[in-house]
Amino acid sequence: MRARGLFISFEGLDGSGKTTQMRRLAKRLRARGHVVLETVEPGGTEIGGKIRQVLLDAANQELSPTAELLLYFASRAQNVDERIGPALRRGEIVLADRFTDSTLVYQGCGRGLGAETVLALDRIAGRGLKPDLTLLLDIDVETSLARARARNAAQPAGETRMDEQSLEFHRKVYEAYQALAAGEPERIRRIDGRAAIEEIELAIWDMVSAHV
Ligand code: TMP
Repeated sequence: MRARGLFISFEGLDGSGKTTQMRRLAKRLRARGHVVLETVEPGGTEIGGKIRQVLLDAANQELSPTAELLLYFASRAQNVDERIGPALRRGEIVLADRFTDSTLVYQGCGRGLGAETVLALDRIAGRGLKPDLTLLLDIDVETSLARARARNAAQPAGETRMDEQSLEFHRKVYEAYQALAAGEPERIRRIDGRAAIEEIELAIWDMVSAHV
């Protein structure tokens, strides 16, 4: 797919602050007069929202790794076709709270399904669409799990199936993010997720304002 707009994704472990930062960036971009689509994966569409419930419901313990992988891509295919693709073709800025890099690190590496399998599905579901810029909010696994637990205790929405994976799983995901960022330093920009919210916001604005 040839994108005319600008596609920026946010990545990081749970609790890395990407959702907060995405909202702040959207606000700054809109203040500059840009049309911005904020989206989330899994989710982002009505159908994707239903797929998200299946994926994150802690009751779905039997979900197999392959079924999990395909559901993440089902949500993405719907989002790309219904929202992201059209917005980019209209020349808008799309901000995505996670995209295929998440599948590479969580399913490809965390679940051990392999990057080849993930990329093969990405060519079908994501139509090879790749973010122009990816902001990786970098926090360690311990901070991530502590923040995720605090959030789940404060808002018991039941979206905890992925947070409840083992420490070893989260460590694999962390390492995979580091490797991914090292391999694509131009696209994937690492940001210290433990800095103050305002400081992170400014660091992101420095990077993004160069592109808009
Ligand atoms: P979040 O919206 O709070 O970030 O939660 C989404 C969860 O789903 C998070 O634990 C990461 C996980 N995930 C995957 O495992 N694979 C994916 O492709 C995506 C988009 C998310």
